[in-house]
Amino acid sequence: MIESMELSNKSQVTEFILMGLTSFQDIEFLLLALFSVIYIVTVLGNLLIVVTVLFTSNLHTPMYFLLGNLSFVDMTLASFATPKMIANLVRNQKTISFAGCFTQIFLLHLLGGVEMVLLVSMAYDRYVAICRPLHYMTIMNKKVCVLLVVTSWLSGLLHTGLQLPFVVNLPFCGPNVVDSIFCDLPLVTKLACTDTYSVQIVIIANSGVIAISCFLILFISYSSILKNIVSHSSSGQSKARSTLTAHITVVILFFGPCIFIYVWPFTNHSVDKFLAVFYTIITPILNPIIYTLRNKEMKTAMRKLWKGHLG
Ligand SMILES: *[C@@H]1O[C@H](CO)[C@@H](O)[C@H](O)[C@H]1NC(C)=O
Repeated sequence: MIESMELSNKSQVTEFILMGLTSFQDIEFLLLALFSVIYIVTVLGNLLIVVTVLFTSNLHTPMYFLLGNLSFVDMTLASFATPKMIANLVRNQKTISFAGCFTQIFLLHLLGGVEMVLLVSMAYDRYVAICRPLHYMTIMNKKVCVLLVVTSWLSGLLHTGLQLPFVVNLPFCGPNVVDSIFCDLPLVTKLACTDTYSVQIVIIANSGVIAISCFLILFISYSSILKNIVSHSSSGQSKARSTLTAHITVVILFFGPCIFIYVWPFTNHSVDKFLAVFYTIITPILNPIIYTLRNKEMKTAMRKLWKGHLG
C-alpha cells in the first residue's frame, strides 16, 4: 500500500467519500444497530466454529478442516469493511483515505477469491465423499487438504494482484464519491479522470471469468452428486444429503450477487450496493448458522467443548 500512498500525493484526490446505503438519519441509526449486532454475531459464530474444529479430534476430517478455514475467511471478509462502515455511521462522517480505499479493494478480492476456491474445494470434498466413498480416505488425505487450502490463498492473491495495479495507477483528480458501503473496483474505476476502457476489460476478464468458472465447476460437481444420490439412494447417504443442502444454499447466496455485479460491472446498477451487503455481511453470518444449527456432529462437539471448559 506504500505505492498508493505515494500516488495520493501526486494526484489531487486524497480521500474518497463512501455514500453508504442511505442518507436518511433515522434509517442510518437503524442500520447502525443492525450491522453492529450482525457483525458481532458473525465474528463470534465463526470463531466458535474455528475453535471447535481445532479442539475436537473427531472433527479432524477434510470436511471440517475446510469448514474451519471457510469460517476463518468469513470472519476476515466480515471485518475488512463493516467496522469502518459502522465507525463512519457513529462519527456521522463518510470519508475513507486513498490508501484505505485501495486496501479495501485489495482485501475484498483476496478474501473473495479465497472464499470462492474454498467453496469449490468443499464441493470437491463432497463429490469424493458421495460418489467415491470407498476411496475417500486415500483421495482426500492430509496432503491434498493442505494443498487445497494453500491453493485457495494463492488464487486469491493472484486474483487481487493481477487487477489492483491497473486501477491504483489511474489518475484520480476530480469526483471522489463512491456510492456504496466500501470501495470496490467498478465504482472506483469510474472515478478516474481518464479513459478506463482497457482497465474495465481487465476487471471483467479477471473477476468475471473467475466467478463464472468457479460457479460452473460447482454446478457440475453438485449436479453429479445429486444425480448419484437420486440413483443410489441409501440410508447412509441421508447425512451426506443434509450437509449438501447447506453447501448449495451458501454457494447460491455467495455467487448470485458476485456474478450479477461483475458480469455487468460498468453499467449503472443502483442495486449493486445492496448486493454488496450480501457477500460481505449476509454470507459470512449464514455459514455459522447453516453449518452449526443444522449439523448434529458440530452441535455435539460444541456442547462437549463447553462442558469440558466448565469442569
Ligand atoms: C485449515 O486447513 C488446514 C489443512 O487441512 C488444517 O490443517 C487447519 O487446521 C485448518 N484450519 C482450521 C481453522 O480449521
